Amino acid sequence: MALLEVKNVSYYYQDGDNKREILKDTSAAFERGNFYTIVGESGSGKTTFLSLIGALDRPKSGEILLKGHNIYEDVKRYRQKDVGFVFQSYNLIPYMTAVENVSLALDIAHLSKKINIKGILAIVGITEDKTERVVTKLSGGEQQRVAIARAIAKSPTILLADEPTGNLDTDTSDFIVNIFNMLAHKMNMCIIMVTHNLEIAKRSDIVYRVDPKIKKLVKDNV
Ligand SMILES: Nc1ncnc2c1ncn2[C@@H]1O[C@H](COP(=O)(O)OP(=O)(O)O)[C@@H](O)[C@H]1O
Ligand SMILES: [Mg+2]
Repeated sequence: MALLEVKNVSYYYQDGDNKREILKDTSAAFERGNFYTIVGESGSGKTTFLSLIGALDRPKSGEILLKGHNIYEDVKRYRQKDVGFVFQSYNLIPYMTAVENVSLALDIAHLSKKINIKGILAIVGITEDKTERVVTKLSGGEQQRVAIARAIAKSPTILLADEPTGNLDTDTSDFIVNIFNMLAHKMNMCIIMVTHNLEIAKRSDIVYRVDPKIKKLVKDNV
Protein backbone atom coordinates (compact mmCIF):
# COMPACT_ATOMS: atom_id res chain seq x y z
CA MET A 1 0.00 0.00 0.00
CA ALA A 2 1.37 3.41 -0.96
CA LEU A 3 1.76 6.16 1.64
CA LEU A 4 -0.40 8.54 -0.37
CA GLU A 5 -2.62 7.24 -3.10
CA VAL A 6 -4.59 9.36 -5.55
CA LYS A 7 -7.31 7.16 -7.05
CA ASN A 8 -9.35 8.15 -10.10
CA VAL A 9 -9.57 11.78 -9.08
CA SER A 10 -11.49 14.29 -11.18
CA TYR A 11 -11.77 18.01 -10.63
CA TYR A 12 -13.41 20.93 -12.43
CA TYR A 13 -13.99 24.60 -11.72
CA GLN A 14 -17.54 25.81 -12.18
CA ASP A 15 -17.52 28.89 -14.44
CA GLY A 16 -21.15 30.09 -14.54
CA ASP A 17 -22.91 27.34 -16.46
CA ASN A 18 -19.65 25.87 -17.74
CA LYS A 19 -17.59 23.16 -16.12
CA ARG A 20 -13.91 23.80 -16.69
CA GLU A 21 -12.43 20.34 -16.41
CA ILE A 22 -8.88 20.28 -15.02
CA LEU A 23 -8.24 16.68 -13.94
CA LYS A 24 -10.05 13.65 -15.27
CA ASP A 25 -9.92 10.26 -13.62
CA THR A 26 -6.25 10.60 -12.73
CA SER A 27 -4.25 8.39 -10.38
CA ALA A 28 -0.81 8.61 -8.78
CA ALA A 29 1.06 7.21 -5.80
CA PHE A 30 3.62 8.76 -3.47
CA GLU A 31 5.99 7.07 -1.01
CA ARG A 32 8.18 8.15 1.89
CA GLY A 33 11.85 8.64 1.13
CA ASN A 34 11.21 10.02 -2.34
CA PHE A 35 11.47 13.50 -3.79
CA TYR A 36 8.76 13.97 -6.44
CA THR A 37 8.33 16.87 -8.82
CA ILE A 38 5.19 17.73 -10.75
CA VAL A 39 5.75 19.57 -14.02
CA GLY A 40 3.43 20.80 -16.75
CA GLU A 41 2.66 23.93 -18.72
CA SER A 42 1.16 26.97 -17.06
CA GLY A 43 -2.56 26.44 -16.40
CA SER A 44 -2.34 22.64 -16.73
CA GLY A 45 -3.54 22.07 -13.16
CA LYS A 46 -0.40 21.62 -11.04
CA THR A 47 -1.54 23.91 -8.24
CA THR A 48 -5.02 22.41 -8.38
CA PHE A 49 -3.55 18.93 -7.96
CA LEU A 50 -1.42 20.05 -5.01
CA SER A 51 -4.47 21.69 -3.35
CA LEU A 52 -6.36 18.42 -3.66
CA ILE A 53 -3.64 16.31 -2.05
CA GLY A 54 -3.20 19.00 0.61
CA ALA A 55 -6.95 18.82 1.38
CA LEU A 56 -7.31 22.53 0.62
CA ASP A 57 -9.87 21.54 -1.99
CA ARG A 58 -11.91 18.40 -2.47
CA PRO A 59 -12.05 16.10 -5.53
CA LYS A 60 -15.35 16.08 -7.43
CA SER A 61 -14.95 12.32 -7.69
CA GLY A 62 -12.34 9.73 -6.78
CA GLU A 63 -10.42 9.60 -3.53
CA ILE A 64 -7.12 10.37 -1.87
CA LEU A 65 -5.88 7.81 0.64
CA LEU A 66 -3.24 8.15 3.33
CA LYS A 67 -2.09 4.65 4.30
CA GLY A 68 -5.35 3.30 2.93
CA HIS A 69 -7.65 5.78 4.68
CA ASN A 70 -9.51 8.55 2.91
CA ILE A 71 -7.94 11.83 4.05
CA TYR A 72 -11.42 13.20 4.78
CA GLU A 73 -11.92 10.61 7.55
CA ASP A 74 -9.93 12.99 9.76
CA VAL A 75 -9.10 15.97 7.61
CA LYS A 76 -8.28 18.26 10.53
CA ARG A 77 -5.55 15.93 11.71
CA TYR A 78 -4.36 15.43 8.13
CA ARG A 79 -3.96 19.18 7.59
CA GLN A 80 -2.46 19.88 11.00
CA LYS A 81 -0.17 16.89 11.39
CA ASP A 82 0.43 14.91 8.22
CA VAL A 83 1.16 17.61 5.61
CA GLY A 84 3.32 20.71 5.56
CA PHE A 85 3.13 23.44 2.92
CA VAL A 86 5.71 25.68 1.27
CA PHE A 87 4.64 28.40 -1.16
CA GLN A 88 6.39 30.47 -3.83
CA SER A 89 5.99 33.71 -1.89
CA TYR A 90 7.16 32.28 1.51
CA ASN A 91 4.07 33.65 3.34
CA LEU A 92 5.99 34.44 6.52
CA ILE A 93 4.78 36.96 9.09
CA PRO A 94 7.01 39.90 8.12
CA TYR A 95 7.37 41.58 11.52
CA MET A 96 8.37 38.37 13.30
CA THR A 97 11.75 36.68 13.61
CA ALA A 98 12.61 33.29 12.10
CA VAL A 99 12.13 31.60 15.48
CA GLU A 100 8.81 33.37 16.07
CA ASN A 101 7.47 32.35 12.66
CA VAL A 102 8.17 28.68 13.35
CA SER A 103 6.92 28.94 16.92
CA LEU A 104 3.62 30.50 15.81
CA ALA A 105 3.00 27.66 13.36
CA LEU A 106 3.61 25.12 16.14
CA ASP A 107 1.18 26.98 18.43
CA ILE A 108 -1.50 26.91 15.74
CA ALA A 109 -0.99 23.15 15.34
CA HIS A 110 -1.20 22.76 19.17
CA LEU A 111 2.25 21.21 19.29
CA SER A 112 4.57 21.09 22.21
CA LYS A 113 6.86 24.03 22.90
CA LYS A 114 9.65 21.53 23.58
CA ILE A 115 10.48 21.31 19.89
CA ASN A 116 14.02 22.59 19.23
CA ILE A 117 13.23 25.37 16.79
CA LYS A 118 16.80 26.59 16.39
CA GLY A 119 17.82 23.00 15.67
CA ILE A 120 15.28 22.81 12.86
CA LEU A 121 16.40 26.18 11.49
CA ALA A 122 19.99 24.85 11.54
CA ILE A 123 18.92 21.79 9.50
CA VAL A 124 17.74 24.07 6.67
CA GLY A 125 20.86 26.23 6.92
CA ILE A 126 19.71 29.22 8.98
CA THR A 127 22.68 30.02 11.20
CA GLU A 128 22.26 31.01 14.85
CA ASP A 129 22.93 34.73 14.17
CA LYS A 130 19.93 34.87 11.81
CA THR A 131 17.40 33.03 13.95
CA GLU A 132 16.37 36.11 15.98
CA ARG A 133 16.29 38.47 13.03
CA VAL A 134 13.02 39.85 11.67
CA VAL A 135 12.49 37.83 8.49
CA THR A 136 12.27 40.86 6.17
CA LYS A 137 15.96 41.39 7.00
CA LEU A 138 16.80 38.00 5.47
CA SER A 139 17.41 37.27 1.78
CA GLY A 140 14.72 35.57 -0.34
CA GLY A 141 16.54 32.26 -0.17
CA GLU A 142 16.86 32.55 3.60
CA GLN A 143 13.17 33.40 3.94
CA GLN A 144 12.29 30.29 1.95
CA ARG A 145 14.51 28.23 4.28
CA VAL A 146 12.57 29.63 7.23
CA ALA A 147 9.31 28.71 5.48
CA ILE A 148 10.62 25.15 5.01
CA ALA A 149 11.61 25.02 8.70
CA ARG A 150 8.11 26.17 9.61
CA ALA A 151 6.58 23.45 7.44
CA ILE A 152 8.74 20.60 8.80
CA ALA A 153 8.76 21.65 12.48
CA LYS A 154 5.64 19.58 13.17
CA SER A 155 7.35 16.54 11.56
CA PRO A 156 4.83 15.98 8.78
CA THR A 157 5.15 12.84 6.65
CA ILE A 158 4.43 14.78 3.48
CA LEU A 159 5.81 18.13 2.38
CA LEU A 160 4.01 19.94 -0.44
CA ALA A 161 5.73 22.82 -2.20
CA ASP A 162 4.22 24.94 -4.98
CA GLU A 163 6.93 26.59 -7.13
CA PRO A 164 9.09 27.23 -4.03
CA THR A 165 12.04 28.33 -6.17
CA GLY A 166 9.94 30.53 -8.46
CA ASN A 167 11.29 33.76 -6.96
CA LEU A 168 14.87 32.60 -6.46
CA ASP A 169 18.01 32.69 -8.60
CA THR A 170 19.64 29.47 -9.82
CA ASP A 171 22.21 29.10 -7.03
CA THR A 172 19.67 29.74 -4.30
CA SER A 173 17.20 27.37 -5.97
CA ASP A 174 19.90 24.70 -5.92
CA PHE A 175 20.24 25.01 -2.15
CA ILE A 176 16.48 24.63 -1.72
CA VAL A 177 16.52 21.52 -3.92
CA ASN A 178 19.43 20.15 -1.83
CA ILE A 179 17.28 20.59 1.28
CA PHE A 180 14.36 18.71 -0.32
CA ASN A 181 16.66 15.85 -1.37
CA MET A 182 18.04 15.71 2.18
CA LEU A 183 14.56 15.69 3.74
CA ALA A 184 13.48 12.84 1.47
CA HIS A 185 16.61 10.71 1.65
CA LYS A 186 17.92 11.38 5.17
CA MET A 187 14.68 12.10 7.02
CA ASN A 188 12.46 9.73 5.04
CA MET A 189 9.87 12.36 4.17
CA CYS A 190 7.67 12.33 1.08
CA ILE A 191 8.43 15.56 -0.81
CA ILE A 192 6.09 16.68 -3.59
CA MET A 193 7.15 19.84 -5.39
CA VAL A 194 5.51 21.65 -8.28
CA THR A 195 7.95 23.31 -10.65
CA HIS A 196 7.98 24.43 -14.27
CA ASN A 197 11.79 24.24 -14.24
CA LEU A 198 12.94 21.01 -15.90
CA GLU A 199 16.51 21.40 -14.61
CA ILE A 200 15.09 21.21 -11.10
CA ALA A 201 12.80 18.31 -12.01
CA LYS A 202 15.89 16.39 -13.20
CA ARG A 203 17.23 16.50 -9.66
CA SER A 204 14.16 14.79 -8.19
CA ASP A 205 13.61 11.03 -7.94
CA ILE A 206 10.31 10.78 -9.79
CA VAL A 207 8.70 13.26 -12.18
CA TYR A 208 4.99 13.46 -12.92
CA ARG A 209 3.73 15.65 -15.73
CA VAL A 210 0.21 17.02 -15.89
CA ASP A 211 -0.88 16.35 -19.47
CA PRO A 212 -3.60 18.90 -20.28
CA LYS A 213 -4.88 16.89 -23.26
CA ILE A 214 -5.84 13.85 -21.23
CA LYS A 215 -6.06 15.79 -17.93
CA LYS A 216 -4.01 13.17 -16.14
CA LEU A 217 -0.69 12.90 -14.35
CA VAL A 218 1.76 10.76 -16.26
CA LYS A 219 5.24 9.65 -15.20
CA ASP A 220 7.87 11.48 -17.16
CA ASN A 221 11.57 10.99 -17.91
CA VAL A 222 13.07 14.46 -18.07
N1 LIG B 1 -10.73 29.31 -8.61
C1 LIG B 1 -10.72 29.08 -9.93
N2 LIG B 1 -11.85 29.24 -10.68
C2 LIG B 1 -11.83 28.98 -12.01
N3 LIG B 1 -10.75 28.55 -12.67
C3 LIG B 1 -9.62 28.36 -11.99
C4 LIG B 1 -9.54 28.63 -10.58
N4 LIG B 1 -8.27 28.35 -10.16
C5 LIG B 1 -7.60 27.95 -11.26
N5 LIG B 1 -8.41 27.95 -12.35
C6 LIG B 1 -8.03 27.56 -13.72
O1 LIG B 1 -7.69 26.18 -13.71
C7 LIG B 1 -6.57 25.93 -14.56
C8 LIG B 1 -5.50 25.23 -13.76
O2 LIG B 1 -4.98 26.14 -12.81
P1 LIG B 1 -3.73 25.79 -11.89
O3 LIG B 1 -3.99 24.52 -11.18
O4 LIG B 1 -3.47 27.00 -11.06
O5 LIG B 1 -2.59 25.58 -12.99
P2 LIG B 1 -0.97 25.59 -12.84
O6 LIG B 1 -0.63 25.62 -11.40
O7 LIG B 1 -0.52 24.35 -13.57
O8 LIG B 1 -0.50 26.81 -13.58
C9 LIG B 1 -6.15 27.29 -15.12
O9 LIG B 1 -6.68 27.41 -16.40
C10 LIG B 1 -6.77 28.28 -14.18
O10 LIG B 1 -7.07 29.46 -14.85
MG1 LIG C 1 0.42 26.96 -10.20
